[in-house]
Amino acid sequence: MSDIASGIEPVKGRVSIAHIGEHKGKTVSVSGWLYNLRRSGKIAFPILRDGTGFLQCVAVKAELPEEVFESIRELTQESSVTFTGNVRAEARAQGGYELDVKSVTVHQRVPEADPYPITPKEHGIDFLLDRRHLWLRSKRQFAIARIRHEVIKAVRDYFDNQDFVLMDTPVFTPAACEGTTTLFEVDYFEDEKMYLTQSGQLYNEANAMALGKVYCFGPTFRAEKSKTRRHLTEFWMVEPEMAYATLEDVKVLAEGLVCSIIERVLDKRREELKILERDVSKLESVKAPFPRMSYDDAVKVLQGKGSEIQWGGDFGNTDETLLTEASDRPIMVDKYPTEIKAFYFQPDEERPELALGVDVIAPEGYGEIIGGGQRIHDLDLILKRLEEHKLPREAFDWYLDLRKFGSVPHAGFGMGIERTVSWMCGLDHLREAIPYPRMLYRTRP
Ligand code: 4AD
Ligand code: MG
Repeated sequence: MSDIASGIEPVKGRVSIAHIGEHKGKTVSVSGWLYNLRRSGKIAFPILRDGTGFLQCVAVKAELPEEVFESIRELTQESSVTFTGNVRAEARAQGGYELDVKSVTVHQRVPEADPYPITPKEHGIDFLLDRRHLWLRSKRQFAIARIRHEVIKAVRDYFDNQDFVLMDTPVFTPAACEGTTTLFEVDYFEDEKMYLTQSGQLYNEANAMALGKVYCFGPTFRAEKSKTRRHLTEFWMVEPEMAYATLEDVKVLAEGLVCSIIERVLDKRREELKILERDVSKLESVKAPFPRMSYDDAVKVLQGKGSEIQWGGDFGNTDETLLTEASDRPIMVDKYPTEIKAFYFQPDEERPELALGVDVIAPEGYGEIIGGGQRIHDLDLILKRLEEHKLPREAFDWYLDLRKFGSVPHAGFGMGIERTVSWMCGLDHLREAIPYPRMLYRTRP
């Protein structure tokens, strides 16, 4: 194992908390920030955090020079420090180890006069969001960030292992993908108007005709004035797209993706799930196959449960929650009315008023995490749809080329990362699932 892999930085001989157990019985230095401090006249228990974990340290007055003990005793929350000491196994400690401190270097002591604002007491959500740059240091946010990282890694591995090629799509786009009502307009040069991308799909379709199986993964934007716990104006989406593929292929791919994310999070992020007090049995029960249901049937089920929904209407948050309330795994709803879907959906052969699209709706009230389906591959039909949706043909000229030069059935989907992370973590709002949330009334820090 290299030094880096074992958590030692060669220059300073520092050890990260995540790897502390590998140094049992040895004297090491750990650099971080003071998370918490319990103390008496004779002993102090500083808890150090370094971003990889939390470590309880023990400083005993009788065993230390006076000034060393005093500088530890007087540490303030979030002061930056390096502790040097002996690593000892301690079954009762979180992580299983403690550090018996021998010496300390204080890099910056946070002054009492201007203390760290986020204390262990409860704070209101706006207070915390205003201080998001600091709030990220708390244990709960630490756990969420690491689960988000794991979800993203699982997503990439899932596609990479199946020979998908990552092809990035632009953020500045001249055309709408998901309807014109949620576009963020940007002033480009010389009076040219551009939009922030709503989805990489259209470019993904071109990429799929070039490379076969592709995915893009990046930030996407929706000027949605909805102030719900499921909507951000900037969110991350992963979008696979496959040439020679149909709606059925999309379902299988989506189901496999969700299962592999859950397996990975359960395997690698147990500690973090524990910090979040996530009921892991809810995740453990998510196994393929996911129930399949047509839009027709979903409407009937919802009406039976007292929903006001009529055939032709889109599901609201409440409908999605109702639909999955009795299910321990996501439900895949397909064949929505063409009317309520984007312009690019391939119609069902037998009932052309239906779109060959599927939404994956997560249980526990987390709602739609994946949306996708089969795309129109016929030139005349896609032209007709552009017209019906009043989309400017010039902006789609290149997109139409895909229907002229070797057009084939193709399909794909988009999965929202924050919705997925929220579900994994059991969060009640998307705002904690991304480091710096952007919402209707939230653009800072
Ligand atoms: O269902 P959507 O709008 O689908 C598309 O954009 C397709 N072009 C994707 C494709 O087929 N390549 O969005 C896909 C997913 C949703 O299921 C949801 O998880 C997430 O993106 N999403 C949002 N997440 C957070 N905030 C919002 N405002 C979101 N809108 C969509
Ligand atoms: Mg959708």
